[in-house]
Amino acid sequence: MVDTSLVIPKRIEKWAKERSEIAALMASEYGDALMKAYEELDLSLLYQSVTHGIGHIERTMFFGAMIAMNEKLSEVDTRDILLCCSYHDIGRVDDRYDLEHGRKSAEKIRDGEKLRSLFAEPEAAMAAIHSHSIPDGEAEDAPLIYNVKKLDKSALYTACLKDADNIDRVRLYDLDESFLRFPKTREMVPLAWWLLDAFLKRHTVLCFGDSNTYGYNPRTEARYPSYFRYPNILQQFLGDEYKVIAEGLNGRTTAFPKGGFIWKSGLYSVEPVLASHYPIDTLIVVLGTNDCAAELDLEAGDIADGMEKLLITARDLLTEKQGYEPRIILVCPPHLEDSIKKGPFAEEMNSKSLEVSKTLPGLYEKLAEELDCDFLNLDGTIHFSDIDSEHLRPFDSYRLAGMLADMIRE
Ligand SMILES: [Fe+2]
Ligand SMILES: [Fe+2]
Repeated sequence: MVDTSLVIPKRIEKWAKERSEIAALMASEYGDALMKAYEELDLSLLYQSVTHGIGHIERTMFFGAMIAMNEKLSEVDTRDILLCCSYHDIGRVDDRYDLEHGRKSAEKIRDGEKLRSLFAEPEAAMAAIHSHSIPDGEAEDAPLIYNVKKLDKSALYTACLKDADNIDRVRLYDLDESFLRFPKTREMVPLAWWLLDAFLKRHTVLCFGDSNTYGYNPRTEARYPSYFRYPNILQQFLGDEYKVIAEGLNGRTTAFPKGGFIWKSGLYSVEPVLASHYPIDTLIVVLGTNDCAAELDLEAGDIADGMEKLLITARDLLTEKQGYEPRIILVCPPHLEDSIKKGPFAEEMNSKSLEVSKTLPGLYEKLAEELDCDFLNLDGTIHFSDIDSEHLRPFDSYRLAGMLADMIRE
């Protein structure tokens, strides 16, 4: 996934509580300069990719600020170096090993008056950016090309940019520490690994459910486009600090084979599903409607028992695999209404189905309490579409996703 927005500004306060180096940066004027540089960064100019895109740029800027602090650089030099870090890869055309992209980035700055005017020392900055993709000793003519008057500035900017860019090679697991120029940058290598892990970490949410998690469209009897399915809407609401995985199957029950298919039982499939996706921080389970089907002839208590087995199995498996307990949100679907008797599922559901579906919320709530899970009752808040009385409208998917997003962020 290519990053589309900055991550570090949103998380750095939290990280400062965990790493003393980050706390020291944020307490200094270098931290202020970094936050200002993030604010002013023109994302539209950046090359888009996983390895050389926004994420790499914001980490390079972070290291640029750390280096400026370590080397006690002036405010003006710090600002220029942060700009070098910001735009050093704008000449990239792909992610290949490319010695020329530094020159191309510098030329974009030279030819872009607005961009060039941001720098206090544009010549020194262009020479540094030109040199950053060329091995040391092979870029001696860079200051000449850009008519640099202050050679000490271009040497300083080059060293700072190269160290800031290089230390983020941890992202490729290809950092050669001997290439780092400042001894204090070498001391930062453990921080670089820590930052990479913290940066890439996403709170993972898995939605385990039936056709309403799959995104069944009652009007077309096909699948809603992804932007109308509640797991995708939830992803949009939660943003890029979260990763939402949709695991919806038409006809899925809590623990019973429907239509003779054992794999429609949630209990049957939950282990391979979770084992394919862990670590899972939050597990959302939305099931129970299909359990009400006449063919299964279940009592509400049977369904709650099925849900109990499913939740215990899921929690045990995840706790064992990932070493920590997931948060579980048990969601009770809306009850079935009389109108279902006039729709395409009239054959599937009978009067008992309707009665059982009305008893489920109370039993689910009790179960959630017993198992120490969170509980969300959709009954009375959300109604199934009147097209088939069993599936959500996009309007309701937005409401459901909103309620879940609020709970997850709590
Ligand atoms: Fe580069
Ligand atoms: Fe780079």
